[in-house]
Amino acid sequence: MGKVRTGLSVSLDGFISGPNDGPEAPMGVGGERLMAWYAAGDIEYRLPESDMVFMVSTQTAEYLAETRATTGALVFGRRTFDLTHGWGGKHPLDVPVFVLGGSVPEEWVYEGSPFTFVMDGLESALGQAKAVAGEKAVGVGAASIVQQCIKLGLLDEIHLDLVPVLLGGGVSLFDHLGIGPIDLECTRMIGGTGVTHLTFRVVK
Ligand SMILES: NC(=O)c1ccc[n+]([C@@H]2O[C@H](COP(=O)([O-])OP(=O)(O)OC[C@H]3O[C@@H](n4cnc5c(N)ncnc54)[C@H](OP(=O)(O)O)[C@@H]3O)[C@@H](O)[C@H]2O)c1
Repeated sequence: MGKVRTGLSVSLDGFISGPNDGPEAPMGVGGERLMAWYAAGDIEYRLPESDMVFMVSTQTAEYLAETRATTGALVFGRRTFDLTHGWGGKHPLDVPVFVLGGSVPEEWVYEGSPFTFVMDGLESALGQAKAVAGEKAVGVGAASIVQQCIKLGLLDEIHLDLVPVLLGGGVSLFDHLGIGPIDLECTRMIGGTGVTHLTFRVVK
């Protein structure tokens, strides 16, 4: 079985979006700074099967390519799904996404949809995601899902794209944990342009 890991952009003060996220500002006030590194470099990284082109450093391009090659499925919470309008139709990683929530948005249920809506809990969503991911990793987000995974001892790795900004508020990645300390081992640091990619193993 593959690992369960996060893959989120985070400010130095620990926020994955700025304050007051909503339809007008899906990343909250100032939160777009967390994504600026996708356009901060001088190497073109094209997402396969997509029109999206990022401008990143060589190191970041390699990291993004590796993430894409090693991710088999995603589990996300319904707020992220709604705020991104289902990432415009499919997730940029182009893998099946299992969306946890309290209801099913029927307009997204159709033959061939990359989204499966799960209402019977995190472990069910993770189980379904692992089944399709096989040997590849399952990526999880956003904050509410990561926190539940940590509490249940289900998270293997924390991948963070650390952005040099203090947002001062917003959705905190590690808020509401209620348990700790949780030991982590830093297994990789990659310096990019406008971002540092950090990998931590959750010590179990
Ligand atoms: N920086 C980044 O890389 C990045 C990436 C993605 C998202 N984001 C940001 O993250 C924020 C959203 O994160 P979030 O933590 O607030 O919300 P979230 O994890 O995206 O979604 C939370 C929702 O998921 C559902 N849910 C969670 N656990 C569940 C469970 N065990 N069973 C059933 N349903 C469950 C609930 O939906 P119901 O309300 O339907 O019950 C809950 O309200 C947004 O601001 C977004 O822009 C940042």
